[in-house]
Amino acid sequence: MAASTEHGAGDARDCLAAVRDYHRRTKHLPGRYAPGPGSLDWANQPDPFRRYVGARLVELPLARTDPTPPYNDLARPGAVSPQPLSAETLGLFLELGLGLSAWKAYQGTRWALRVNPSSGNLHPTEGYIVLPSLEGVSAYPGVYHYAPREHALEERCVLSEDVHATLIRDLPRGGFLVGLASVHWREAWKYGARAYRYCQHDAGHALGALRFAAAALGWHLRVMPELADADVALLLGLDRAGDFTDAESEVPDLLAAVTPDPTMRPLLALSDAVREATRQAHWRGHANKLSPEHVHWPELTMVEEAAVKPRAPPPAVACQPQANPPAPANAMPSAATLIRRRRSAVAMDETTGISRDDFLGILARSMPDATTVPWDAFPYPPRILLCLFVHRVDSLPPGLYALLRDATRKDAIVAAWRPDFAWAPVADSGLPLFALRSGDSREAAAHISCGQAIAGAGAFSLGMVADFSRTLAEEGAWAYRRLFWEAGLIGQVLYLETEAVGLRATGIGCYFDDLMHGLLGLEPDDDTWQSLYHFTVGGAVDDDRLQTLPAYEHLGPRANGRGESRESG
Ligand SMILES: Cc1cc2nc3c(=O)[nH]c(=O)nc-3n(C[C@H](O)[C@H](O)[C@H](O)COP(=O)(O)O)c2cc1C
Repeated sequence: MAASTEHGAGDARDCLAAVRDYHRRTKHLPGRYAPGPGSLDWANQPDPFRRYVGARLVELPLARTDPTPPYNDLARPGAVSPQPLSAETLGLFLELGLGLSAWKAYQGTRWALRVNPSSGNLHPTEGYIVLPSLEGVSAYPGVYHYAPREHALEERCVLSEDVHATLIRDLPRGGFLVGLASVHWREAWKYGARAYRYCQHDAGHALGALRFAAAALGWHLRVMPELADADVALLLGLDRAGDFTDAESEVPDLLAAVTPDPTMRPLLALSDAVREATRQAHWRGHANKLSPEHVHWPELTMVEEAAVKPRAPPPAVACQPQANPPAPANAMPSAATLIRRRRSAVAMDETTGISRDDFLGILARSMPDATTVPWDAFPYPPRILLCLFVHRVDSLPPGLYALLRDATRKDAIVAAWRPDFAWAPVADSGLPLFALRSGDSREAAAHISCGQAIAGAGAFSLGMVADFSRTLAEEGAWAYRRLFWEAGLIGQVLYLETEAVGLRATGIGCYFDDLMHGLLGLEPDDDTWQSLYHFTVGGAVDDDRLQTLPAYEHLGPRANGRGESRESG
């Protein structure tokens, strides 16, 4: 199998087979989990903070006031005027996209939380930006790594004005690039072979978090689908093996353009001149080592090689504008308040329900719509539907429901799933939402989620079911990753929309794959439809033993005046 960027037809078939094999081998089954470490090796727990030793550190300002609009304005195209690009706005963008949200403390141990969630709070996702010259940052364009604990940029390389101008010639003034890369080892330390899936979910969440952060500043953000992984690696300096000797490598995820206005033409590819100049530029900094020792998971190597993204033309059909119910116009906290407040529930209270309107509102925001955040960032067609376990939704009988995010697939789904599902449209929902079967599904939801009670104790939970084999056949083996990104994006919407209605959500990566498929009437060896991520929403029970500390108190005077307070729970 080739790990090259341009696969031949034979290689493409091998890669597809390898990705499907990885997916099959990393399923959890009751009594037989995907290969994992068994117990946690605390001496090798990965450092959640990557640093580039020797790179110039540029501290970013921490916003003292909150210039962001009410959260629900983000869902209204054109409602937020673009802010000019400055060190302040860039700092806020990175804080709200990838920054810290709090520290938790318990019995002398402290750990950071971030605005973007992460499986096991291990945070494999690293952020990079490619910036023009900017007052307060640098007199020259450059490539930077974002260090969230320091809320600072690490200058990896300075680019000449000429190279930068060629690179971003298609972007409007005030535009810049943001990139994501993953340290797969961070998740593998705890989750072994299944870690690759979680890294992709996390990349999708981070992309969503960045899209919402950009929207809070009136900016647009869009993934550039044409680029190969090799392009992204070269531009972000990830392929500079000498800068990672002895340190864990980073695998490129994606590159997106951030612009003040939506009239943005895509950057098709890096020209040879830009590639050469970037390679020859003066790079600084050496990646820190995150764990003293590592365990090798052959499944990860296999899928990393098979799911390499080649250069590609943009997908012919991404998502379309939709006539979804509009976002509610009631007063809401600011976008920044809500984004910083997002947390995963560790337990649900088994009593709190949700109103029908709030439930449908959350679902409406998770529908793909080319004109709204975050779907306008994602240039791929919607390939995931939601299979909902409704536990406590006012005026909606408990049971199993399906939200078809691409209603054109309904006939295929009805034909493939259990013949006794009712497929009864939910009246006056304004959504392609169907009741499949009524009845109490709390126990089934918890059991399918590896026995995690939170899946049955909330108001509703769900599985994200992908149009799996078709997407891989049409878009290539690498599309395995973008399916998880789509799931992560849906997850980020669920987290924020849930927070906006005063409830809490939790992503669930641990679920028994084929139990979910069996519930839908699908055979274990049929991968036409595959559930890729689960979620639960409800009334959270906080863990009062934990103390919550402000996100940036450790930065001392830089953080003064931010109005962050200590809380319990
Ligand atoms: C991809 C993914 C999978 C997750 N899986 C689970 C899970 O199976 N069970 C659970 O209780 N929490 C799960 N979580 C929640 C994380 O534990 C949580 O995001 C992390 O501890 C950070 O906390 P925060 O979300 O409050 O910032 C998952 C989160 C993500 C992003």
